[in-house]
Amino acid sequence: MERILVVDDDAVMARTIHKMLAQSYSSFMAGSGKDAIKYLEKYEADLVLLDVNMPEMDGFETLLKIREIRGLEDLPVLFLTAEDNSNIEIKCLQAGASDFIRKPVVPEVLRLRVSHILELYKLRNNLASEVEKQTDKIRRQQDIMRLMSMQMVYALSDTIEAKDKYTNGHSHRVAEYSKEIARRFGYSDEKLDEVMTTGLLHDVGKIGVPDTIINKTGKLDDDEYALMKKHPAIGAGILEKITTVPDIAIGAHWHHERYDGKGYPDGLKGEEIPEIARIIGVADAYDAMTSRRSYRDVMSQEKVREQIVNGRGTQFDPVFADIMLKMIDEDKEYKLRGNIS
Ligand SMILES: [Fe+2]
Repeated sequence: MERILVVDDDAVMARTIHKMLAQSYSSFMAGSGKDAIKYLEKYEADLVLLDVNMPEMDGFETLLKIREIRGLEDLPVLFLTAEDNSNIEIKCLQAGASDFIRKPVVPEVLRLRVSHILELYKLRNNLASEVEKQTDKIRRQQDIMRLMSMQMVYALSDTIEAKDKYTNGHSHRVAEYSKEIARRFGYSDEKLDEVMTTGLLHDVGKIGVPDTIINKTGKLDDDEYALMKKHPAIGAGILEKITTVPDIAIGAHWHHERYDGKGYPDGLKGEEIPEIARIIGVADAYDAMTSRRSYRDVMSQEKVREQIVNGRGTQFDPVFADIMLKMIDEDKEYKLRGNIS
């Protein structure tokens, strides 16, 4: 049964109303605004019937105090007004009352108004909880979609890894190094996820390069090198089909561009090269130098450092080269490298 608090300084009136409601509701009485506040701070109510004219604290003041109680910001309040005065009625509604009832109270009018208001609030609350439920469901679905697309990215990046015998884990390491450079540069978490994805997929175009070339232990001849150089364009062609993530192809497309414009496939120069591709360019070169290859052992850290310094402003964006150099200098035991075994 719904609980109704009747607030009136006139005890006879309060009791009369209490009786009118007794059949369908549990009602409680308060003889002043202060008592009503005390009651509502302790007990629950579904609706308040509030007399406008009361000594000390009138109905308007009492309503303001009720709204200050946590959780009662929306509690339905019906004013009881003795005056046949539209100004008072307007004031009641402006003060945030759900409605008003004129005295002398007609029992049927009272019951109908109370039941309508309670019904309305119940519907509103149901609607709010339904909206919350649906929002929750959408959020869960978004999480699953995000996880799924990340898993697809990992799966795709693993297919390149499987093809290339000698660079085991290259895409993952390049993604991690790129992410660390970007983090130090000040990227947001969301942007770092983008760097990770782009890094993981940067060599996806190698899928389109013959295995014999990818796994060749000796130096590539001119024709083979020309085929190898196609992997950025092939990768871009594959990833550009994922239109829901517009920038996903950036890393694959331009990670072999050089800061001085002498790279490939488009010979972009300086800031013409998208920022993430410039970051991946440094990370990619670092991993290539610090990984064991069939034709050479892992380079010494000094040698790697020297190569990055030499490429600063020519091969690499100086800003990202400097961050990489800082990472190298902090890596005293040369742990930051691949294929250590
Ligand atoms: Fe590459």
